[in-house]
Amino acid sequence: MHRGQTMPSPTDVNLPSRSCTAVVGLQWGDEGKGKVVDLLTPGFDAVVRYNGGANAGHSVVVKGERYALHLVPSGILSAGKLAVIGNGVVVDPEVLLKELDGLASRGVDVSGLVISDRAHVVMPYHKAEDVAREEMRSFAGAPGIGNPESHQAIGTTKRGIGPCYADKAYRATAVRVGDLLRPEMLKKKLEPTCFIKNALLKGLGSTSTFSAREMLDWAIPLGQRLKPCIRDTTYLLHDMLASGKRLLFEGANAALLDVDHGTHPFVTSSSTTVLGIPAGTGVPGGRIGVVLGVVKAYSTRVGNGPLPTEQINDIGNRIRERGREFGTTTGRPRRVGWLDLVAVKYSAMLNGATHLSIMLLDVLSGFDELRICTAYRVDGVQTDRFVPDADLLDRAEPVYTAVRGWSEDLTACRKRSDLPSGARAYLDHIEQAVGVPIGIVSVGPDRAQTIVEM
Ligand code: GDP
Ligand code: IMO
Ligand code: MG
Repeated sequence: MHRGQTMPSPTDVNLPSRSCTAVVGLQWGDEGKGKVVDLLTPGFDAVVRYNGGANAGHSVVVKGERYALHLVPSGILSAGKLAVIGNGVVVDPEVLLKELDGLASRGVDVSGLVISDRAHVVMPYHKAEDVAREEMRSFAGAPGIGNPESHQAIGTTKRGIGPCYADKAYRATAVRVGDLLRPEMLKKKLEPTCFIKNALLKGLGSTSTFSAREMLDWAIPLGQRLKPCIRDTTYLLHDMLASGKRLLFEGANAALLDVDHGTHPFVTSSSTTVLGIPAGTGVPGGRIGVVLGVVKAYSTRVGNGPLPTEQINDIGNRIRERGREFGTTTGRPRRVGWLDLVAVKYSAMLNGATHLSIMLLDVLSGFDELRICTAYRVDGVQTDRFVPDADLLDRAEPVYTAVRGWSEDLTACRKRSDLPSGARAYLDHIEQAVGVPIGIVSVGPDRAQTIVEM
């Protein structure tokens, strides 16, 4: 501010235009984020991933064709849009190229893909370390592990996600996408790194070993193939915003798997909420005007860790079968439970959700009565606050509100008023308890099987 210049009054201050929307999961993943992103993509110029890696599995069904996306943003399925992998993503270049080849062979135009030169590379030794650490945690007789019951494996996707993010934090052993284009520098980095990794893997009981030569032979050709897509995506996104373009951020994993705010230690290794967008893309959070919190009409979880409303019984089996609850990435059967609004309300708060998108409502048809968790009892004390600590949450007993179900098939409903009264009451209950309006209701996997009232 120059001398003599007056301070702008609050009304003169030009607030940045909020041209960005975020789609984020409010439970333990697999809420249907891919479907929502695909649905919204036509209104945007780019779809941007900011976190996670090939641990994500986003299924999109277009005209009866099912696509499973892991690293490629779901926006790739809409022609003419940019699909951006931001710096916060961890990229396995081999998995990415396979995915691109698979999409191209089905006629999808993948020329809109852009990858940040600052995204980190998941190397083959990261996957070996992920497997070795998980095996060590599952092995009752492992040294230093006292009570095997309380030291379960996390149940990771074994995609090398945790070890890659750990190397990002360690810095010296990290490999970034831009490094794939600099063989001499990469060689210097990989020699000490492979030495450290081999010692570490041996200590973890693994027989895998890796040489810098092998790693270079693997990485350099992959880098060459990806070269046309590799860019500084931070400037790209800011240039787009400056010219009035609109960005859609696609969250991977979900709030309760967030490394800071989830059910630690049974979480993934990235910031999965909107709080991860600024760090994972370079776009400030103030740019985000709409936050769509995606919620499955019941709860699921893959991998280990607490799921307070879990139903290991006929109810759970019935929902799993009807909802085809088997992982998109690993094929593992998903654990299933009643809707947990204590958890959803917490995640909506963390994300600043402006709207909810309620998914797979059709799966709940045919129950006389449904249950919704509205509070927990922890060590005899009732609370409506979430407990983001695995040990404490394990002791939380859900307090349920029973609501009547509905028998009708919902898959042809296209307006909220088309839904049977039981389903409408279920949605009203969610809206009231979470305090956020529902903008989208999904009644089937297809694009067309959606109610949009925003
Ligand atoms: P994401 O990881 O959040 O993108 O979710 P996933 O794709 O892993 O899992 C959601 C699954 O539910 C996919 O198989 C979708 O095709 C499917 N799906 C999405 N919305 C609906 C819906 O409203 N009804 C039904 N029956 N399936 C849906
Ligand atoms: P989308 O984007 C469901 C879970 C894993 C495991 C834990 C840690 O499809 O919703 P990781 O491999 O990340 O170290 O595993 O997190 N997990 C997911 N569960 N959906 C996902 O992604 C997930 N990404 C990670 O099952 O329990
Ligand atoms: Mg998924």
